[in-house]
Amino acid sequence: MSFPLNIEETEVLARGKLPRDVFGYYSGAAWDAQTLRENREAYQRLRIHYHVLRDVSRCSTECEIFGEKLSTPVFAAPTAFHRLADAEGEVATARGVAAAGSLMTLSSLSTCRLEDVAAAAKGPLWFQLYINKDRGFTRDLVQRAVRAGYKALVVTCDTPRWGVRETDLRNGFHLPPGIEPVNLMASDTRSQSLSHQGAGLGDTMSWMLDPTLTWKDIAWLAGEANLPVLVKGLCRPDDAVLAVEHGAAGVVVSNHGGRQLDGAPATIEVLPQIVEAVGGRLPVVIDGGIRRGTDVLKALALGACAVQVGRPVLWGLAVGGADGVTTALEILRHELEHAMALAGCSTLADLTPDLVRPGGQ
Ligand code: GLV
Repeated sequence: MSFPLNIEETEVLARGKLPRDVFGYYSGAAWDAQTLRENREAYQRLRIHYHVLRDVSRCSTECEIFGEKLSTPVFAAPTAFHRLADAEGEVATARGVAAAGSLMTLSSLSTCRLEDVAAAAKGPLWFQLYINKDRGFTRDLVQRAVRAGYKALVVTCDTPRWGVRETDLRNGFHLPPGIEPVNLMASDTRSQSLSHQGAGLGDTMSWMLDPTLTWKDIAWLAGEANLPVLVKGLCRPDDAVLAVEHGAAGVVVSNHGGRQLDGAPATIEVLPQIVEAVGGRLPVVIDGGIRRGTDVLKALALGACAVQVGRPVLWGLAVGGADGVTTALEILRHELEHAMALAGCSTLADLTPDLVRPGGQ
């Protein structure tokens, strides 16, 4: 296979290039990986009830969020430790994402300094945050992100504890010397010592997660930040309403790619209820299991304003650095544009809920 036709082929190529424990970390999920599988299978259960005869000679995948215009509604989700996939790490990812006209959320577990990523990026960036036990540290990190020009904060809320990823435990996954979560280093020297030893990252990461977090902390951050705050990792309409009530500017429907609570529902399954509960008050973004443009079409039709992909970006990065990232995002954008034409839709606004129904209805 010389070049990948689709995301699945990109994953096959990436698997051939990456060390086994790194591929295991990126691809793995919690416990039995039921939610990981469900994220995919739930898309495959949905059918697209396409229109015909609607002049689709010009189809646009342009989208807008928080006043930012992008050529694609397929964004790069926050994922950790990109220097395990490419020597330039998140700096390369940011270049690749911008070249695809997309938007990247940088993980706080980035292996490049957030300032360096911002300097390299030609497109908009959001910053993903775990609210640290040390609120002073969190405030400083937020100020750094603001100064560097990040446009929004994405707070991961499904992580009171690290999920149990048995593949990582079995492989004794840890960061090799020289690769570190550099933006967190000031917080606790344990990030440096622990990330280089042990089996899995559970112990390493627990110092950074705060199990006492509540909605009050979201309200605190929203007041503190002077940037839009998106709440990431929810799967229930009542939680989405609480997000609105506590000052969130957006929500990301996510189960952390099946890496936290195994048995959680597929994100596409809960999306319609969440969209209804939010009632247009703020944008709803979704991630989890998106591997085809038709998946993107389904998510947008069911009310998401954009989708995020995590592993597909990592596969692209591993296969071809920045260009590989661009290619992966372009594959999804082209597939979306093609599927829109075949469904009789010229713009994202034409993607309405009546287009998508479970098979057999
Ligand atoms: C990081 O957020 C991970 O899920 O490994």
